[in-house]
Amino acid sequence: MRILVLGGTSFVGRAIVDDALRTGAEVTLFTRGRTGRDLFPAAARLIGDRDTGDYAALGTGRWDAVVDVSGYLPRHVGQAMDALGDRVGRYLFISSQAVYTRTGPGSDESTPRRAPVRDTEELSEDTYGPLKAACEDDVTARYGGRATIVRPGKVAGPHDPQSGLTYWVRRAARGGRVALPGRPEQPVQLVDSRDLARLVVRLLEDDRPGAFHAVGPAEPTTLAGLITTCAEVAGAQVEIVPVPADTAPPFFPLVHAEPLWPAQRRSPARARAAGLPATPLAVTAADVLAWDRARGEPPLGHGFSPEDEARLLARG
Ligand SMILES: NC(=O)c1ccc[n+]([C@@H]2O[C@H](COP(=O)([O-])OP(=O)(O)OC[C@H]3O[C@@H](n4cnc5c(N)ncnc54)[C@H](OP(=O)(O)O)[C@@H]3O)[C@@H](O)[C@H]2O)c1
Repeated sequence: MRILVLGGTSFVGRAIVDDALRTGAEVTLFTRGRTGRDLFPAAARLIGDRDTGDYAALGTGRWDAVVDVSGYLPRHVGQAMDALGDRVGRYLFISSQAVYTRTGPGSDESTPRRAPVRDTEELSEDTYGPLKAACEDDVTARYGGRATIVRPGKVAGPHDPQSGLTYWVRRAARGGRVALPGRPEQPVQLVDSRDLARLVVRLLEDDRPGAFHAVGPAEPTTLAGLITTCAEVAGAQVEIVPVPADTAPPFFPLVHAEPLWPAQRRSPARARAAGLPATPLAVTAADVLAWDRARGEPPLGHGFSPEDEARLLARG
């Protein structure tokens, strides 16, 4: 199978490329050539830039499928589709759970989405989901039954540039009293990047249209369950100490106010039936811990610093 990946050298796309190569697919990467230059010597490389609309490198070639990991704006997908036309069999777009409201009801793929937005190119917390919704619609309008939409929830795994699971894995491994500026019973969904990748490649292999939630882990969990699992994996002992939400810096990893909990209860049933694996959270946490240690635990930029957390806990 010949697969073109728009992106593929950071985290989500990197896992997809890994999986595709493992299955023996012929992979071509289209990027600016900045990130992960030494990765994947077995893959062909094409250079372009979605921001400036430079798709000249896609002027020739045929692929069974394209996986669009780096599309965030309707212009990105529109120009890629114009460039590729019918020289790709299937167009699989990596969307997001952000196409849904975080407070609304619904757990499966028929959950009403937020209204698509096309009149801005500014990506923010407010526009990210509606822009992705517009991308979904444009891909589906152009490719019909040859369009596939994958909507990941929060993704976790080695090479994650964000601080979601990594913060808790690292914090739990230190052991002791752990400040939690949220509710221990808050539901948490995290999909292992390797499971997401397997789903994507299976959908291409099976030539399957439609929309699929990529959410995990295998068993429903909570913040307390996640922190405990992270501690067990590291062989550490922790005591979870709830602290007031207003003590937390903004965007505290994986912590959400109660009105946003419905977004942590999406159903993976359709994706599971299509081949989404269910890696246990303990495995994901162990692999993130090993990767984070191997890279030397650089600053994460989110969560409590050890000093701030100690001061907060000392206040009682
Ligand atoms: N992380 C999560 O929790 C999460 C959750 C839901 C959805 N998602 C979705 O997952 C995708 C993000 O995955 P990722 O960033 O980890 O994917 P990735 O494909 O591994 O990395 C991004 C790729 O895009 C390329 N790229 C960046 N800017 C470009 C440009 N202007 N023109 C051409 N190529 C460009 C980068 O290479 P160069 O720098 O060399 O160009 C890199 O290969 C997004 O679609 C996001 O919405 C993520």
